[in-house]
Amino acid sequence: MLLEHQSKKKEIHASGNGMGKKIPVADGNRLFGSAKPLLTDPLEFFLNQYKKHGPVYEVHALGRRYVILAGPEATRFFKTNSAKLFDARPIYRHYGKDLNSDHVLVGMEGEEHARFRRALLPAFSKNAIGEQYPQMVDTIRNSLDLIPENKEFSVVEEYSKMASLSCGEMMTGCPFNRSMKKLSTFARIFLGAGVGGFPGFMRLLPKYRMARHTTLGFLKEILNRASVDDSAFPKDRDLWKILEEYRKIDGSPLSKQDKLANLHMPYTNSLVYVGSLAGFLLHFLLQSKTAFNHFAKEARELFGTEQPPQLDEVLSAPWLNASLMETQRLQPISLSAPRVATQDFSFMGYQIKKGDPMLIATAVAHYLPEFFDEPEVWRPSRFIQKAGNRDVFTDNSQIPPEAFVPFGFDRHTCIASTLVRVVTITLVAQMIEKYKITSLNKTGELKLLIAPFPSPHPKWKIKVERSNN
Ligand code: HEM
Repeated sequence: MLLEHQSKKKEIHASGNGMGKKIPVADGNRLFGSAKPLLTDPLEFFLNQYKKHGPVYEVHALGRRYVILAGPEATRFFKTNSAKLFDARPIYRHYGKDLNSDHVLVGMEGEEHARFRRALLPAFSKNAIGEQYPQMVDTIRNSLDLIPENKEFSVVEEYSKMASLSCGEMMTGCPFNRSMKKLSTFARIFLGAGVGGFPGFMRLLPKYRMARHTTLGFLKEILNRASVDDSAFPKDRDLWKILEEYRKIDGSPLSKQDKLANLHMPYTNSLVYVGSLAGFLLHFLLQSKTAFNHFAKEARELFGTEQPPQLDEVLSAPWLNASLMETQRLQPISLSAPRVATQDFSFMGYQIKKGDPMLIATAVAHYLPEFFDEPEVWRPSRFIQKAGNRDVFTDNSQIPPEAFVPFGFDRHTCIASTLVRVVTITLVAQMIEKYKITSLNKTGELKLLIAPFPSPHPKWKIKVERSNN
């Protein structure tokens, strides 16, 4: 007891005087720091630096400095201490600022955050998704029907459009009906600059201003229609009711800007993140004959008839889900949680200072052999439910939760994780059920684009022709 007390005292002392082990600096050059590897393959860089320096190191890139906490210990520490030591607001405040709102969920903390998250949850629930799912299947089917056969196209661009159309329709009843190119420009710069991956000046670019005008114009229009008594308007979606009825802690309703700041997500987040994830999944499937055959069999069983499948059938199809999980393990879209330290604290003997910008590199654990044998190999069978090897999306997983973090790990975990699983599987499974796909990537190697989120390169093209199954 005495010893415990003494060591605690020592730690507080260390905290007060900035003592502790010196934080190593990650590889990089004098001028640009670590910018180059961060822009080429950030996950590989985080992993290599973790192997070299351990769970704490500092990264410098283009005039910015981040303290990285990496690996399973860091992820566990993050989860346990998130509310006390880590603040998301300084990172994500740009989202709110750009849209003049203080109610952007990811950029809120404390009771305001918890309250708003609770209110939004029904719109993302399995029930809400299940009700609209047949329509989502149809929307994607119709979009796939429009793809010309034997003509090359960019996989990521096509998936991004379809993801945005189908998620927008599912959550608001109003698919985006203006220029997709402008929506894409808005989404990529808004989200990229919002997390600080893109420089803030990109918001001043004329092409962003125009894209923003078009996107917000569409959102304002549907918001206005939702607020008048229009019997033809699809008000059955939970999101409309939540945005209308929600009251902030001080009792005031959401402002029009607050509503806009939440209404864009089904269109933008799905376009940027889901489009890329679906592209990664297709890439890996095309590289692995065995997994492809299992996946295609389930895709045919579920999507090969006119009647759309039930949501539960899709969420429990072993190979569809295992292939997606293995894709999220090997090539996650979210590599780290960005935060700012709210106070001085010590982690594994290293002293973190209040105000330090930090990245909790959750994805590093995805590559550790103690959790995944041959971690660099894409092998969905590791996620197939069998004795001793259970699906990690269930509570019975054999893999510790900090080893597989596709959707974040603290109170900010992705509110749309079920929606993301459903739409990604539906996009890729329906394409594989309907078409024979030829990849025009001769080498078969995955070329990444980091902008600033990882995506298969938009120049990756495929051709499709109707399959005769
Ligand atoms: C591949 C697709 C997606 C991935 C990998 C993903 C991942 C994540 C991650 C890692 C976080 C936590 C961020 C942090 O801790 O700093 C997050 C939060 C969030 N995501 Fe997603 N996301 C995806 C798609 C979507 C979509 C389509 C929507 C909306 C329709 C969405 C809505 C949100 C919201 C509102 C939060 C904030 C939750 C909170 O602060 O409580 N995400 N997402």
